[in-house]
Amino acid sequence: MTGQINPPNRLLMGPGPINADPRVLRAMSAALVGQYDPVMTGYMAETQELYRQVFRTRNDATLLVDGTSRAGIEAALVSLLEPGDRVLVPIFGRFGYLLQEVAERCGAEVHSIEREWGTVFPVSELEAAIRRVKPKLVAVVHGDTSTTLAQPLDELGAICREHGALLYTDATASLGGNEFAADDWGVDVVTAGLQKCLAGPSGTAPISLSPAAVEVVESRKSIEAGIAAEGAPRSPRRIRSNYFDLGMILDYWGPSRLNHHTEATSALYGARECARILVEEGLDVAVARHELHGRALAAGLQGLGLTLFGDQEHRMNNVVGVFIPEGLDGEAVRRTLLEDFAIEIGTSFGPLHGRIWRVGTMGYNARKDTVLTTLAALEAVLHRAGAKVAPGGGVTAAYEVYA
Ligand SMILES: Cc1ncc(COP(=O)(O)O)c(C=O)c1O
Repeated sequence: MTGQINPPNRLLMGPGPINADPRVLRAMSAALVGQYDPVMTGYMAETQELYRQVFRTRNDATLLVDGTSRAGIEAALVSLLEPGDRVLVPIFGRFGYLLQEVAERCGAEVHSIEREWGTVFPVSELEAAIRRVKPKLVAVVHGDTSTTLAQPLDELGAICREHGALLYTDATASLGGNEFAADDWGVDVVTAGLQKCLAGPSGTAPISLSPAAVEVVESRKSIEAGIAAEGAPRSPRRIRSNYFDLGMILDYWGPSRLNHHTEATSALYGARECARILVEEGLDVAVARHELHGRALAAGLQGLGLTLFGDQEHRMNNVVGVFIPEGLDGEAVRRTLLEDFAIEIGTSFGPLHGRIWRVGTMGYNARKDTVLTTLAALEAVLHRAGAKVAPGGGVTAAYEVYA
């Protein structure tokens, strides 16, 4: 007989997933109720209202897609894009390529522009590309975890509107720990996940759609046979996924409560608690907390004598990229940190693989104790591995930030 699940207590200080807030795990162990039980539909309505606050939007169409963050991405893109639609995808890291790939799979005509990893686009470059491509949709990552940077979006919505394009952004890595304001920034569609600054497990993708985006989805409405009433819409341009058909998902979350999937009840309880924690703390306070601990972590890594990666002006608050010292086996260092200190930090992808580690301080783990513990442990492991580190330099530099 295989044993019960009994994982070790790790401190997850990578780019996500991170340790879930115990409140979220407790909420997820609550009793199940039927998906049309008024208690459940009440929880659903509360969850929608909480996420409106998290996204800073008044969008009625604010709900959860069941699945990890990329389920939210797929739902957004497959529901908005039809074959031949023109999309602009500005890419400044791995997750930009994911948007490109999903848009291609939707049959869209994808126009990508790229930036060297570690930089973001000046808004003038984005505007010039929008003028040239004339896209129906601009799809851009807000915070790209692969490079640790966040693309400023505050002016992009107005530019998109001026040129008749919708704006979609993936805020999986940034939401809750960095400023984000869907309505003020003119973001039409935003999707996220729980496993970063929202302090939950992955598996649920909060999403919000502006009235203009809902109009596009509704224009493709097609209700599946077996539940469709007489005369229900069956668009010839129907969305090419059933599971991610936001038209049907909106009907399921809306007043008609039209049956679609069986709600992932425990996941919804968890997602609701994630948002409740953030709203209770206050979004500005949560962003300030991430900024403080991110700054302390960055100072501490520099205090050890390490060099930070990327344009620090545009770094997300919640994750720091740091160069692996010359001649060191980065994976061996990560393994020793995990085995001897039960601390996980992140590796990296693509052109950064083997060159940088990514160290996160986010959600439940954006705390002074986690930052100081990680810096102390990293110093010890680096020292043992033969790297030159300033003794006590990491913790001291972080303490100076806290002072
Ligand atoms: C910015 C961003 N987008 C998308 C994803 C994909 O998320 P998931 O693995 O939850 O599907 C991640 C995961 O780290 C991410 O950081």
